[in-house]
Order: sequence, then C-alpha cells, then structure tokens
Amino acid sequence: MAQLWGGRFTKETDQLVYSFNASISFDKRFYAQDIKGSIAHVMMLARQGILTDYEKDQIIQGLEGILDDVECGRLEISDKYEDIHSFVEATLIDRIGDPGKKLHTGRSRNDQVALDMKLYTRDEVHLLDNLVEGLLQAILSILEDNIDTYMPGFTHLQKAQPITLAHHMGAYFEMFRRDHERLQDIYKRMNTCPLGSGALAGTTYPLDREYTARLLGFDGGPTLNSMDGVSDRDYLIELLSALSTIMMHLSRFSEEVIIWNSNEYQFVEIDDAYSTGSSIMPQKKNPDIAELVRGKTGRVYGALNAMLATMKGIPLAYNKDMQEDKEWVFDAIDTTKGCLVLFAGMIRTMEFRKDRMEKSAKNGFTNATDAADYLVNHGVPFRDAHGIVGQLVLTCIEKGISLDELPLEEYKEISEVFEEDIYEAISLETCVNKRVTAGAPGRQAMEETIAYYRKYMEEY
Ligand code: ARG
Repeated sequence: MAQLWGGRFTKETDQLVYSFNASISFDKRFYAQDIKGSIAHVMMLARQGILTDYEKDQIIQGLEGILDDVECGRLEISDKYEDIHSFVEATLIDRIGDPGKKLHTGRSRNDQVALDMKLYTRDEVHLLDNLVEGLLQAILSILEDNIDTYMPGFTHLQKAQPITLAHHMGAYFEMFRRDHERLQDIYKRMNTCPLGSGALAGTTYPLDREYTARLLGFDGGPTLNSMDGVSDRDYLIELLSALSTIMMHLSRFSEEVIIWNSNEYQFVEIDDAYSTGSSIMPQKKNPDIAELVRGKTGRVYGALNAMLATMKGIPLAYNKDMQEDKEWVFDAIDTTKGCLVLFAGMIRTMEFRKDRMEKSAKNGFTNATDAADYLVNHGVPFRDAHGIVGQLVLTCIEKGISLDELPLEEYKEISEVFEEDIYEAISLETCVNKRVTAGAPGRQAMEETIAYYRKYMEEY
C-alpha cells in the first residue's frame, strides 16, 4: 500500500477498503496524460516564480524519464499505489528526491484527475472521429458504385417503392456524418482546462491558468468556476450519448446486413474473413460480426445510463462516486472503436448481389404508386387511381405475376385510361429516375448528392 495522505491517520487502511478505493487498475491507462499535465503545471509554476528553474528542470527530466521507462516496459505501473497520480508522484520522489515533493504545489488530485480524463477523452474523440471518417469513406464508395443498382425500399419491412443501393447507403452516410459533427461539437465544448481549480476552491498561489491551458492546447482557456471545474462530467455524458448514437446507427445497419445476408434475402454475401461457422452445422456461415455490433450497442447504452444515474445525486463539488466514470467511459470508447473498425471492414469486403436486389424490387409491386401516378397524370383523381391499382394488384396476386407482366387488355378491363406506355411508366428505371427532388433516389439527384458528399469528405 502506498498512499499520499498518511499524515493525519493513526491506523493503516484496511486491506479491503484499500482495494475498494483504489483506481490504479484502470486509471493507469492515462499515465501519459497525467505526466503531460504535470509537466505543464510545473512549467507554469516556474514561470510564476513558485518553483526555481532548477527544480522545474529536475522534475521535468524525472517525469520524462518515468514516461520513457513506462513506455518501453522498463517500469511497471504497480498496483500497490492507489491511483496513477500517486504512482507518478511517488516514483518521481523516489527518483529525484526533494524537488519531486514540490510537484503537487497548487494542485489537488481533484483537478488533476479532471484534467487527465479530459486530455485522455479529447485524444480519443479524435481517434473515434477518424474511424467514423473511415466508415463514411467505405459507405461513400458503395454509394458511388451503385447509382443504378435497383432494390426495394421498405416500410414496415414490407416492400414499398423502388430505390437504389446508392440511395439506401446515402441514408447511412447522413447518419454517420451527423455523428461526425456531434463529435466535433463535443470536442469544442469540452476543450476547457480544469487544472488550477484545486480541490474545489482554486488556490492561493498565483497560478497562471491561461498559460497552462495554452500549453495543453485547450482552446477554450481555463474553466471559469473551480467547483464546476473539478466536478463537471457533462462532457463524458455527451460523449457517451454520441457513442450510443453511433452504436445505434451501427446496430440498425447491422440488422439490415443480417437480414440481407439471410438465405431468404441473399442481397449480400458477407466475406468469409468476416463470417464464422457453426460447430455442428457444416453448411452455416453466420454474420457474427454484425450480430456482435448489434449486441454491444446495449453495453454502450449501459455506460450512458450508468453515468447519468451516478451524476444525478452528487452534491458539489468532487465526490468519490466520480471515480466510477472511468471504467464506463473507457469501455464505451473501446467498444465503439472496435465496432467501427470491424463494421467498416465488413462492409468494404461484402459482396452486393445486384441481381437479387433488382429481382426483389421487381416482385412485390414496388411500382404500384407509380401506376397510380400514371392515372393521375391522365386526369384520374388520386383516390380513384389508388383503388384502380389496388384491383390490378389483386389480379396480379391471383395470377402470380407482376404489374409489368400483366397484359394491356387486363389493364384496360379495369381502366380504359391505360395505354401501351404504362409499361415504360412503371419500369424500375422510370420509377427511380423520375424521383429527382433533393434527397430522392433518381440518378440526377443522386449525382448531385454524391458530388456534395465527395466535397464533404475532402473537407473532413
Ligand atoms: N481516483 C480518483 C478519481 O478517479 C482521483 C481523485 C481522488 N481525489 C480524492 N479527493 N479522493 O476520481
């Protein structure tokens, strides 16, 4: 057991209490951020004349040595310390003696941990955003290759109207670009520096908080209230909420991949490298990756709920409950990153069965709305047109054929308005390509959207 705060205690901490209280097993993950924050703090202390240049140099050298040694495995972060902050400080004192004891001047672990967590999550937001970018690229290239790949669009999982695979992919592009923008937005708001808030009430040392914030790249400057500085975890809640939304999108997409990959649909074939087999059924090739992504979504939601529940009852300012933020946030970040990588790889290698998609769009009366529109264009009121086409569909169902296959005489039996050009009017090509308003699947609209998306990715 190694503690920073033994002075006022007359007894050793109970071993169980010690383990229950300790956070080093998980906060050791941000040792580099802890050291980086300490270096900035010490530079500021020296600049303000609170430490001598000699002390500053000694401490910085010592800290850099610890960082190097941890990084190349010469120094192990031992669980005998309570947390990463204690480990770094105690190791520093061990190595450089007295100057090391001045590191914690004008600082509390409360503002220190608030800083470390921000530095860590700030880096992770960048990495997450890069992975979202990779996924958007993967989606965009499917989109570009499939402007003419016809498929049924669904509502209620019932075939509704014909669309293209490009259009379907475009919906996901929209979702993930909102996710990208959300991450950017969170980053902007979280980019303020809590260091210098002290335990809760600032400090009596003449700290230059602006300077530390600048050294650490906090564009938003120092936090403006020290109580909030040590106890704000909103940015983690926002991050968990953004991660939950990314996972929700990945999960919807996964669900579609699973349906499309089923024996009944066969719209896609997941690559062997992204599928798994069954221990008993030799014929099986399962979409486990998509299922796991769908499954892990619950786990990230869990982190968001846990964090919200923990924060709701915490009076100002720092309370130990807040230590619980780390495992959830780390797990949610790791999970989402893993899912983004795997999912992008899966769709990049997935084969789209264009023939099956087109065949499915043809069978299922996805062009019924267009048949009704044909009548409307010939002066029939829409409600009557709806009824007429309904009867045609019924006839086709009885005969087991599609609207395209129904002879003109039978059309005419139900409405005299139909002429030979009905077949052209209800072809998949016409149904899709006549839809050219902004956001629609028609080739012309899609090409404009794709040009916009390409530019969007260039400026990412
Ligand atoms: N391990 C603690 C945490 O993660 C560090 C802050 C400890 N501060 C304190 N006053 N006990 O929140």
